[in-house]
Amino acid sequence: MKKIAVFASGNGSNFQVIAEEFPVEFVFSDHRDAYVLERAEKLGVLSYAFELKEFENKADYEVALVELLEEHQIDLVCLAGYMKIVGPTLLATYEGRIINIHPAYLPEFPGAQGIEDAWNAGVTESGVTIHWVDSGVDTGKVIKQVRVPRLADDTIESFEARIHEAEYKLYPEVIRELLYK
Ligand code: GRF
Repeated sequence: MKKIAVFASGNGSNFQVIAEEFPVEFVFSDHRDAYVLERAEKLGVLSYAFELKEFENKADYEVALVELLEEHQIDLVCLAGYMKIVGPTLLATYEGRIINIHPAYLPEFPGAQGIEDAWNAGVTESGVTIHWVDSGVDTGKVIKQVRVPRLADDTIESFEARIHEAEYKLYPEVIRELLYK
């Protein structure tokens, strides 16, 4: 059985969708008060939380993450709203085993505001991307992406909701293809 860990910083709706379909070994949050931790408890998924500011530096923080991943013999790390750049310490041991979901059609609109940036640019379509994680911001090799239209009567809320629905479909599809085929 392949082992999945999910990293999330906040809400955790993508984590929930993943955990409802696949066994998740643990979820990690870099915020001790993140809502994703409540979701984990309700779903009976093991969770860990610690914050960068509790460590001397990012390398030490990531050493703690690597220890957790190794202790649990994790095969695939799924970033799902994990709002930190993965640093060299984590990449050194796990590059090639970390994937991320981004709410735009990369290389269009990388960065933390992918949905708002697409909306403000007035696009007629955006999308969702799952990619391998490298040292850049949303620059790793694309695994799979889908287009999501912006409709004439969309508000940013309805546009955002359609993008999230596409995320909830695409992330499980990719995990299935990577781990279970
Ligand atoms: C998602 O839109 C994801 O693409 C982005 O952050 C958001 C996380 O949402 N990286 P949630 O925490 O899974 O609800």
